[in-house]
Amino acid sequence: ILERVICVAIGYLFGLFQTSYLYGRANHMDIREHGSGNAGTTNALRTMGKKAGALTLLGDCLKCVLAIWVVRILYRGDHADILPLLSMYAGAGCILGHNFPIYLNFRGGKGVAASVGLVLALDWRVFVICAVVFFTLYFTTHYVSLCSISAYLVALIVMSIFGWLGYYGMETARVWEMDGVLACLTALAIFRHRQNIRRLLNGNENKIFLKKGKKA
Ligand code: G3P
Repeated sequence: ILERVICVAIGYLFGLFQTSYLYGRANHMDIREHGSGNAGTTNALRTMGKKAGALTLLGDCLKCVLAIWVVRILYRGDHADILPLLSMYAGAGCILGHNFPIYLNFRGGKGVAASVGLVLALDWRVFVICAVVFFTLYFTTHYVSLCSISAYLVALIVMSIFGWLGYYGMETARVWEMDGVLACLTALAIFRHRQNIRRLLNGNENKIFLKKGKKA
């Protein structure tokens, strides 16, 4: 159990690197007081422009990849048989650090870009499938929140199937444990998007357009 706690703790520390918040602070603003109030890629794009959005996506994604990388180096000897599971714990810690940063009164983001890093580091095939789902929905609806939630659910389903098919080389109990952690992260993502879901249902969610001149 100790190694799982250590993985979550390492992930949490990496998750504290709040790219959009730090970018905003460097530009004398608190992103959480603007737009949707979320410290994440979409709101960085919305309130500070494309460069801020791209850097936030990169920074928040990379911190999760790095956390997982550290955990893999740390445990590749002792726990080589459960590295995918430990990576999932590190990713979960990173998302917790991103969503609930201690130094920002626990008011962070929704963890989508960090989850991109998690999926990318864990299984690039799942990443490709989620990216196809995300962009197909994006170009048909322009609701980023809908794309994020859908990609999350697809990741949960596909990763569970891959786990059961034995793709991660772990015994069944560990596969279930990994699915359980991912299911909790999915529930958390849905909870963090509750206001977006309400707006989607009411038909007044904000659309995001990348082309100049187009506004929701
Ligand atoms: O990445 C978060 C996205 O799904 C929604 O962000 O700012 O529109 O609430 P936002």
